[in-house]
Amino acid sequence: MQKLKIFRYLPGQDPYWKDYEVEAGPDDMVLTLLNRIRETIDSTLAYRFSCRSAVCGSCAMLINGKPRLACQTRLREVAGEVVTLAPLTGMKVIKDLIVDMEPYWNNLKRAMPWLEEAPDSKDAVITSKTTDLQESICACILCASCYAACPETGAQRSYLGPHAIMEGYRILHDPRDTAAKKRLDVLAGPDGAWHCDGAFGCIGACPWDVSPVKYLAKVRTESMAVRFGKVKLEELCKEGGDK
Ligand code: SF4
Ligand code: FES
Repeated sequence: MQKLKIFRYLPGQDPYWKDYEVEAGPDDMVLTLLNRIRETIDSTLAYRFSCRSAVCGSCAMLINGKPRLACQTRLREVAGEVVTLAPLTGMKVIKDLIVDMEPYWNNLKRAMPWLEEAPDSKDAVITSKTTDLQESICACILCASCYAACPETGAQRSYLGPHAIMEGYRILHDPRDTAAKKRLDVLAGPDGAWHCDGAFGCIGACPWDVSPVKYLAKVRTESMAVRFGKVKLEELCKEGGDK
């Protein structure tokens, strides 16, 4: 048996912690325990999940105080006498373990993580450096763990957050894109990479070791290089960064 302490909240009521005790083995995933509780003990418990394979990002929550995916976390990795489950921080709680992801998605949209292609973009040369960059960042499943672990996103909602800056950076270095200037202005603007105050909460929060902070630092150095004429923006964007 495993004891769990789970954050409960219903709009209009005070939040509280509820204790549960459920049958469990060390190899059970935390998500399995949640499903077991909902199916056999308390059908009112609310949480999100979908893929159960660590690819949709929807089951991110604080497990013993750290952002983790419930479907990727085995009990033996976190087991103590009691395991605590709480919603991700920095976002409004809708119910129990479910948070409002709207600001997170809106911030992602502000970084324009899509291509604005030129008519002749089919002639663009995609180097291996570009594809390497694309592949590393595409490992992000947009689970919001890094966003929740960052004290700045909670303190200042307008800050884009590590996920958005990283996704914008990915497109910034796609030679088919024509909106580099607009995109860099956002990524290196007041709500962008310079807003990070170096708390580095996002380091270690990512279930896929994507390291968004690396790209935040790149936005800073590359925007300075463009600003002081060390490199032309078009040149910078031709390849996968590091000019
Ligand atoms: S970088 Fe990692 S922690 Fe952040 S949203 Fe993507 S997968 Fe989640
Ligand atoms: S259920 Fe999809 S990542 Fe956990």
